Amino acid sequence: MELRGAVVAITGAAGGVGFALAREAVRRGMSVAISDIRAEPLEDARKALEALGGAVLAVRADVTKSADLEALAAATVARFGKVNMLVNNAGAFVASLAWETPEAQLDWILDLNVKSIAHGIRAFVPRMITQGDPCHVLTIASGAALTVYPGYTTYSTAKHAALALTEALYMDLAAEGVGNIGVTIAMPGILRTEIMSPEKTSPADLALADGGRFQRRTVRAMEQMMRNHVAGGAMNPDDAARQILDAVAEGRLYVLPAHDSPATVATAKAIATGRATGENAYGPVLDGILRSLDKAEETRK
Ligand SMILES: NC(=O)c1ccc[n+]([C@@H]2O[C@H](COP(=O)([O-])OP(=O)(O)OC[C@H]3O[C@@H](n4cnc5c(N)ncnc54)[C@H](O)[C@@H]3O)[C@@H](O)[C@H]2O)c1
Repeated sequence: MELRGAVVAITGAAGGVGFALAREAVRRGMSVAISDIRAEPLEDARKALEALGGAVLAVRADVTKSADLEALAAATVARFGKVNMLVNNAGAFVASLAWETPEAQLDWILDLNVKSIAHGIRAFVPRMITQGDPCHVLTIASGAALTVYPGYTTYSTAKHAALALTEALYMDLAAEGVGNIGVTIAMPGILRTEIMSPEKTSPADLALADGGRFQRRTVRAMEQMMRNHVAGGAMNPDDAARQILDAVAEGRLYVLPAHDSPATVATAKAIATGRATGENAYGPVLDGILRSLDKAEETRK
């Protein structure tokens, strides 16, 4: 796909990966429609992108609402005359134990990380089919689409579904002979963003800000481990954005920024193979993870 001159709409673009993708898109000569549930950071993002010389539209949108995705698609076409790319980026992570996850938390994570993608596809893909020019749908899934860790009840459930939903789009486009829409799924490892602050956008009744979930050692240690990664050597989202847009330009179905160390790849392969052959590959993975959780717990003291 030729990115220069194309129009991209990005959800969750006020910060993190979404903003990095928007900035990289501007650098590559794309017009960008950025959207986010947080109005003020979205406005700051718009100003920053315009300062780079970008043609920018900012639309406040809550991706859990189907009507907001429809309004984003309509506003993008109204402003730029077309839309060539949808980036399903908005998402959140919060750890919990499988048997203690409140129903409202499960609903929030699935609405935000999964159903939002279906809303985006319904709003944008028919417009892209009508346009007939080169278009693309990019989903920011996660390495959690391939593996499951302790505490990942809602996140891995959601990201496995995000992967399947976007692969289903790919298969349906091919089966229906829709030749102008490419699909890419990014499955990054840990990136340096604000993902470890879910309370910034979570519904107030989930009370994530009070940290009650940290009474559970597994939840506390897992979130600590991820925070340590984010604060330490985690990949910069700008580097991830470059890799991801390269993959889109090359028409690749998958791209895995920061999820490519030999150990990570070996684990994901073992789990995928085990699922296909009926062998449980989680044993050795669990040993390593439990040691990492012990270490993370130590760093809190
Ligand atoms: N940071 C990582 O380590 C990492 C790794 C793999 C995948 N991802 C995925 O990347 C995507 C972006 O996450 P990030 O790391 O940039 O996190 P982030 O928290 O920095 O950014 C997420 C953005 O989404 C917005 N958002 C939240 N709820 C929304 C809603 N209902 N409607 C619209 N926007 C909403 C937030 O306001 C925020 O600007 C997510 O899908 C995440 O799961 C992140």
